[in-house]
Amino acid sequence: MKKQAELFNGKAKTVYATDDPDKLILHFRNDTSAFDGEKIEQLDRKGMVNNRFNAFIMEKLEAAGVPTHHEKIISDEESLVKNLDMLPIECVVRNISTGSLCKRLGVEEGMDLNPPTFEFFLKNDELHDPMINDYHILSFKWATEDEIAQMKTLTFKVNDILTKLFRDAGMLLVDYKLEFGRYQGALLLGDEFTPDGCRLWDIETRKKLDKDRFRQGLGGVVEAYEEVAHRLGVKL
Ligand code: C5P
Repeated sequence: MKKQAELFNGKAKTVYATDDPDKLILHFRNDTSAFDGEKIEQLDRKGMVNNRFNAFIMEKLEAAGVPTHHEKIISDEESLVKNLDMLPIECVVRNISTGSLCKRLGVEEGMDLNPPTFEFFLKNDELHDPMINDYHILSFKWATEDEIAQMKTLTFKVNDILTKLFRDAGMLLVDYKLEFGRYQGALLLGDEFTPDGCRLWDIETRKKLDKDRFRQGLGGVVEAYEEVAHRLGVKL
């Protein structure tokens, strides 16, 4: 597999073409960003930790019946993935209230949400990823009705699989964001699943073990990611 032109340079990952048009290389960089790129820092080892963590989670999901773009790790900071036609949509499920939900709705932090909430956001940095609903998605043809149904089903299936996985390792999966894309007529989970895109709290102390440590300047960001990986048995 030959690495070719850089296709896209995101806030924490770079995407490269390969000599196979159906495959891409994802490079997980050490860059860490928050507040729509206003705060950016390089955190040693983060690219490697996230690459290995992401592969571990994607393999667990695939084994449990969630189709993903992940193929294999090809270096410390790089993985080979299927070349999806990404939908411009973020799917967020929340099991505990915090973050933008509390700001938006004025609800208390730390409430158990039963049932969990599901939200769609439009992927658009300039507009700060506004919340959208099914009707916007259909009217603007960002996805079909069937794809909307699949995104909801798969995102909740991920919740069933991962809440248990993290709980068994002493952590609460508070909330997370997923992105999907089209590949040969099917909808697959794309992007990444790492502590950059979810919230994880220690089950006993509620210590934050995710990117909120960076957003809130709490320090020990990569150390927390490594602790999560260690608790799950991810080899770093
Ligand atoms: O900020 P908010 O509370 O809406 O985030 C909900 C979840 O989605 C968090 O786990 C956050 O890390 C993730 N998220 C993300 N990328 C975004 C927006 C949210 O990974 N652009």
